[in-house]
Amino acid sequence: MKILIIGNGGREHAIAWKIAQSPKVKKIFCAPGNPGIAEIAECVDIDVNNIEDLFNFASKQKIDLTIVGPEDPLLAGIVDKFKEGNLNIFGPSKRASIIEGSKVFAKNIMKKHGIPTADFRVFEDIKKAEKYLENCSAPIVIKADGLAKGKGVFVCKTIEEAQEHLHEIMEEKIFGAAGNKVVIEECLQGEEVSILAITDGQTIIPLASARDHKAIYDGNKGPNTGGMGAYSPSPFITNDLQFYIEENVLVPIIHAMKRENRPYNGIIYAGLMLTNAGPKVLEFNARFGDPETQALLVRMKSDLVPILIAAINNTLDKAEIEWYDSHSICVVLASKGYPDRYKKGLPIFGLQNVKSLKNVHVFHAGTTKDNGNIVTNGGRVLGVTTMGNDVKEARTIAYDAINKLSFEGMYYRKDIGIDAA
Ligand code: AMP
Ligand code: GLY
Repeated sequence: MKILIIGNGGREHAIAWKIAQSPKVKKIFCAPGNPGIAEIAECVDIDVNNIEDLFNFASKQKIDLTIVGPEDPLLAGIVDKFKEGNLNIFGPSKRASIIEGSKVFAKNIMKKHGIPTADFRVFEDIKKAEKYLENCSAPIVIKADGLAKGKGVFVCKTIEEAQEHLHEIMEEKIFGAAGNKVVIEECLQGEEVSILAITDGQTIIPLASARDHKAIYDGNKGPNTGGMGAYSPSPFITNDLQFYIEENVLVPIIHAMKRENRPYNGIIYAGLMLTNAGPKVLEFNARFGDPETQALLVRMKSDLVPILIAAINNTLDKAEIEWYDSHSICVVLASKGYPDRYKKGLPIFGLQNVKSLKNVHVFHAGTTKDNGNIVTNGGRVLGVTTMGNDVKEARTIAYDAINKLSFEGMYYRKDIGIDAA
């Protein structure tokens, strides 16, 4: 088979690495990819949002399966375009991806169908939102409705802080039209967990549990990022909780989407808070999470390709996913200044030193080549992903590997997995 992966992050590198092991796969292309991916796939210089060129490339190359990494092309209708042209593509349609594209849509569908989530209100008018906030108590959460690269959520300790973020989103439009509406919601307390599942719209197969770390600083402090690290499995997910989440979140959301005439096929990602009153949904994403996917795929024993094909062909009821018992962690090495402004083009040292390390995979995210050297090219630069018999061992292996890597201003969290070790 010929596979095309769309995207250029650590998630796509992990997908390419996993798919490259499939005996069914002869050739992998990645658009646009990065230098890490280029070691196992042919990178094609087409932007993830250039759906026309991606479609023409896939048609011409007779690609057997396209896998979409990021959310933007999903929301722009890449899956619809490929399916109309009879090309196999894994991911939800434009109508179904709205579960991630609009937090207002996600909150309303959860409310309508009784899926547990934080209490909330939606506002289109800043004056009304400001007035409502005056009578709220802190902490409180402010969310921009649309896509904001994982940075559109503010967990505010005071009402003043909440008013400031409201102003940034609705008045200064720091996220553009994504801030035309806001969700103001109750702040939940508890352990966070990401449960991703693959579905063909009928059958739902949950993947192993994972934990993301969205905040920039240790102790989950500071502003949210796209994700600074992950581990799998989550020690907080018991069999009972897993069952509860399937029955009360995954099954009802897929059913609800079908009833709303938005049939869902692809990955459904539920970000959850395990509160004293039970698990509640923080958000849904319509794709593989990043960095969770890096931590998940190194633990997946089964070949991913037949599973994705089964989802596309609506035959997931016959599929099964096996996992290694080991524990994995992924620590993101980021540029100084991320998630705000940061420098690019800084040389990365030590990549050769970590190549031969056992149970270590350095997935590339924001990297590029400059005169033959690999340099930084984004906020999240590398995902150091490791496996161990337990989290403690996976942590030791990861942080030892990180000691061999460097670039100017390299920043990473030191506490990934500490709560599970
Ligand atoms: P989201 O993009 O909606 O998952 O939000 C990003 C992060 O903000 C989550 O991973 C949580 O850490 C935090 N968050 C979002 N909503 C809430 C909430 N209602 N209560 C507490 N924390 C939240
Ligand atoms: N790690 C969070 C996300 O992929 O949105």
